[in-house]
Amino acid sequence: MTKDYSDKLPTNRIFSGVQPTGNLHLGNYLGAIRNWVRMQQDYECVFCVVDMHAITTWQDPSALRKSIREVTASFIASGIDVKKSALFNQSRNPNHAELAWVFNCVARMGWLNRMTQFKEKAGKNRENASTGLFSYPNLMAADILAYKATHVPVGEDQKQHLELTRDIANKFNNDWDVSNFFPEPEPVILGQAARVMSLRDGSKKMSKSDQSDYSRINLTDDRDAIALKLRKAKTDPEPLPTEMDGLEDRAEARNLVGIYAALQDMTSEQALAEVGGKSFKDFKEILTELAVEVLGPIGEEMQRLLNDEAYIDSVLKDGAERAQAITQPIIDD
Ligand code: TRP
Repeated sequence: MTKDYSDKLPTNRIFSGVQPTGNLHLGNYLGAIRNWVRMQQDYECVFCVVDMHAITTWQDPSALRKSIREVTASFIASGIDVKKSALFNQSRNPNHAELAWVFNCVARMGWLNRMTQFKEKAGKNRENASTGLFSYPNLMAADILAYKATHVPVGEDQKQHLELTRDIANKFNNDWDVSNFFPEPEPVILGQAARVMSLRDGSKKMSKSDQSDYSRINLTDDRDAIALKLRKAKTDPEPLPTEMDGLEDRAEARNLVGIYAALQDMTSEQALAEVGGKSFKDFKEILTELAVEVLGPIGEEMQRLLNDEAYIDSVLKDGAERAQAITQPIIDD
């Protein structure tokens, strides 16, 4: 008879994974981190810095350690409550790797061959890609299912991996004749997540890999740096429009209005009702004041945390213990 595990499923558990790429910026904050902070109110949350995913491509060891601490610091500085949510790096809970091996034996070659991210990341030289890069989605499925997470916040680029996770959960349940052992986790598409563009070119996403540091506001930037970057941000000669259609072919204006709106949790329409008609000179002053007010304290807290490695490491250790306390009984089952 099919054994049913429904009573062991959590109702509202989020698993979020983030790559340890240092240098988080305003785009990461408005597009992701800020939403995760808010999800803590309604969900039991597990936040994981996925260092084992990072090493699917070459990482310099000391740079990787530094990035793990930086990402952790930015989460804490942005308001992740480490008493409430587990925050840790993946490699410290061995259950992820354990379950990933089982999933290597559940997922099919054909399934992984369809993953578009592998094709992009491996590029032309597939023969030389690590096998870890190929089986990356199985580890991601293990991250999520080791906690029986019910919800996973993901961006567009990770949707395919989440679908694979559901396929793995299903096949596992079928193969071993269990029902609801693993849940089929739902994507949480973050409400109108702000798409923050480069300050130098409104058609490109704000990115940590952009050559120019003036293209982005880093979470570690202090008040002066924020003000300087916004002052230098690219604009056009016209004052701000009063209606949304006036932003259509003005990528830079649209981006700055979008940032202004997101920083105060309003829509761009609402923002234009306030600042439409202003010159860029006046608008940039208001925007700078707002950005400094919201981001200044985060940057300061990050600097403070980064000077206290022992504290960050203790958070990660404690988080890993709490994480394993959730996953070990599931692995044992
Ligand atoms: N693959 C995700 C990314 O590149 C990171 C990740 C790893 C993840 N494990 C996860 C995201 C589990 C959500 C859930 O962004």
